[in-house]
Amino acid sequence: MRDLNETNVTEAVLGQMHASDPRLQTLLESLVRHLHAFVREVEVTEDEWLGAIRFLTAVGQISDDKRQEFILLSDVLGVSILVDAINHRKLSGGTESTVTGPFWVSGAPEMAHGAMIARGEEAVAGEITSVHGRVIDEEGRPIEGAVLDVWQASPAGMYDVQDPDQPEMNLRGIFRSGEGGEFWFKTVKPAAYPIPDDGPVGELLKATGRHPMRPAHIHFMVRAPGYKPLTTHIFVEGDPYLESDAVFGVKDSLVVNFDWNHSKDEAARFGLEAPFIDVAFEIVLESGRKGPGITG
Ligand code: BEZ
Ligand code: FE
Repeated sequence: MRDLNETNVTEAVLGQMHASDPRLQTLLESLVRHLHAFVREVEVTEDEWLGAIRFLTAVGQISDDKRQEFILLSDVLGVSILVDAINHRKLSGGTESTVTGPFWVSGAPEMAHGAMIARGEEAVAGEITSVHGRVIDEEGRPIEGAVLDVWQASPAGMYDVQDPDQPEMNLRGIFRSGEGGEFWFKTVKPAAYPIPDDGPVGELLKATGRHPMRPAHIHFMVRAPGYKPLTTHIFVEGDPYLESDAVFGVKDSLVVNFDWNHSKDEAARFGLEAPFIDVAFEIVLESGRKGPGITG
């Protein structure tokens, strides 16, 4: 192992790697091959390599228990959605998944059907929205007792964990589907928002002529025993950023209408005043590996 050069160094590195875990061996071998191929292809300069190392160092340094810049980096490079697509291929018509993002937190409060998840001032000032539907299986049978963990940004475009002015657990809640698979909660219409862009990932976006915006959406994590867990969003039809989501998470099947409903009778049924925004959609879980409940 002497006289290594640009032609033989890859095999020399691979020849030294003997992980006892075969999957780890596969992952690292492939990583080394692709990384070396990248360096050869573009003939990386020493300054560029140092720049890359400085960039990754900054990504680590800005991360803490509230901010996860590596997840953001993976998201804006399209790696998160690629990993999601490979790991959640829909074989029999289940609801499509999308990125989780860095803003899910554990411990959201379990709430009764119809509860309002907005706890801040937007609960009175926002556009009141009723979100309802059913959790069903691939044959259309209702799934009772599915756990739906829901979270979203405020109409001002920030999650509670980013914004000291919002009450803790604002715009988060856990619901359980009823006998007919039904779920129902109240919220305020979400808005498009920028992903955190005041750090190295923001610089990367700027340097490549990209905006940081995500189209308005509500996140769902759905679990039911005997079904594959699902992590997804619903997106607001008509949002201007549906075509250019900074993290590539939009799927046509997840875009739903957030339409005004002027019916006084329907408003009364939901305990609301007309008009309100009415959102209906079904969540289809695929049977499979037993999904752990979120709340135990
Ligand atoms: C989110 O939707 O919460 C999100 C996803 C990826 C990056 C940043 C935020
Ligand atoms: Fe989000």
